[in-house]
Amino acid sequence: MTDPARRRPAEPSQAGVTAEIAALGGSGGAQPRMDYPPYRSSLLRHPSKALQQADPEGVEWFAPMFGAQDVNPIEADLTIQHRGVPIGERLTVTGRVSDGDGRPVAHQLLEVWQANAAGRYIHQGDQHPAPLDPNFTGAGRCLTDSDGCYRFTTVKPGPYPWGNHRNAWRPAHIHFSLFGSAFPQRLVTQMYFPGDPLFPYDPILQAITGARDRERLIATYDHDLTIPQISTGYRWDVVLTGPRRTPTEQS
Ligand SMILES: [Fe+2]
Repeated sequence: MTDPARRRPAEPSQAGVTAEIAALGGSGGAQPRMDYPPYRSSLLRHPSKALQQADPEGVEWFAPMFGAQDVNPIEADLTIQHRGVPIGERLTVTGRVSDGDGRPVAHQLLEVWQANAAGRYIHQGDQHPAPLDPNFTGAGRCLTDSDGCYRFTTVKPGPYPWGNHRNAWRPAHIHFSLFGSAFPQRLVTQMYFPGDPLFPYDPILQAITGARDRERLIATYDHDLTIPQISTGYRWDVVLTGPRRTPTEQS
């Protein structure tokens, strides 16, 4: 009887995936490619037919809703959700959400989720041997102000392994959701940290094949945002339309 493990196709190596990334470099647009072979699961789950058009008003009958009164300002501080202080480098992350002409996108719901400082999510799908932090859940939200600005306090997430290929590691990142004025407008993307050595190895970031377009997802370290004895500071702006539009995960 054949050993089932022997029938399995060889697990791709990082070197093989890196070579695929290099071969596809610069081949796409400013937004992530939905069928990007180095990102294995994108091949099976991206739409192969035209999307079904939904009536936006009809969707709103069933979609989640929120009001400004539902969002408490303390939800923007991910470091005070438990009795103790989470482990890790504490950060202030702030920025502005605007349209392509620089007009503020005011009073919008921004939601964030992230791994803890050790690179572990509180999720049953994440069982790799890094520690959970009892003082860190990794989820928060806030509303943009009248000038489109948001601000979070959190800890720097660690890189983490994932199952795309052998020894695949994601660069440190924070997931962002921008709700829009109705659920069908929701946009989801990721913010990265400058100088991360894992950038060239990551098929998710590299699915945006333009180097300058990838840079739109990388925050800037801003020393003016640091708070003495408390936190370092990063600035990351989001542009919703136009040629400088921030790459988003397309549905
Ligand atoms: Fe993630």
